[in-house]
Amino acid sequence: MIAQINHNIFSAKISKIPTFFDNSSTGNTFLIISTLRPAQTKAEKMIKVNHAGENGAVNIYRAQRIVARFRSKSLVYQLEQNMEHELAHRKIFANYLVENGIRRCKSYFACGAGGYVLGFVTGIIGPGAVAATTYAVENVVLEHLEEQRAYLCNNDLAAHACVAQIIEDEKAHHDAAKDQLEENQLMTNILIQVVKFCTECVIRFGMR
Ligand SMILES: [Fe+2]
Ligand SMILES: [Fe+2]
Repeated sequence: MIAQINHNIFSAKISKIPTFFDNSSTGNTFLIISTLRPAQTKAEKMIKVNHAGENGAVNIYRAQRIVARFRSKSLVYQLEQNMEHELAHRKIFANYLVENGIRRCKSYFACGAGGYVLGFVTGIIGPGAVAATTYAVENVVLEHLEEQRAYLCNNDLAAHACVAQIIEDEKAHHDAAKDQLEENQLMTNILIQVVKFCTECVIRFGMR
């Protein structure tokens, strides 16, 4: 009830949010405001971190798609599809947070901005960097999702269901990117290290 009232109050502001902080596709996620309680259990913190991470993923693809329209048009459709998946994932986690009255992660906007910068830069470098970024991101993401799935099945079934819903999409993104990787292993390895470092920082920050 409180959540619905908050939604009515804050939904009017949605259209004023800049694009890469856009919440409109997450429906009632605008309920995730500072008056809600912080995540308390390990499971809640996992979902909160995943929600922020998905915002990063949405914005990587969003920026890559924009650049690809000029740089490599053949990638646009795939990037569009991936972005749609990430929007759906973000909504799944947002719904969990809303239903449990939990505040979103403080890193949410930083993840969105960081993802946008990463997507923009790699989009300009070209298709090889785009594939390497997706491969690196999904590699790290899948590792964490599998760990979470093992933990959540004994601790929070609703959170487990959220994680289980997105794994197939993430695997598909990973496998498609793997097929598109270019010979330049150095760039892939550098991106994996950068993405791993950033992901670890977000997780450590969010799980405190
Ligand atoms: Fe995702
Ligand atoms: Fe993905």
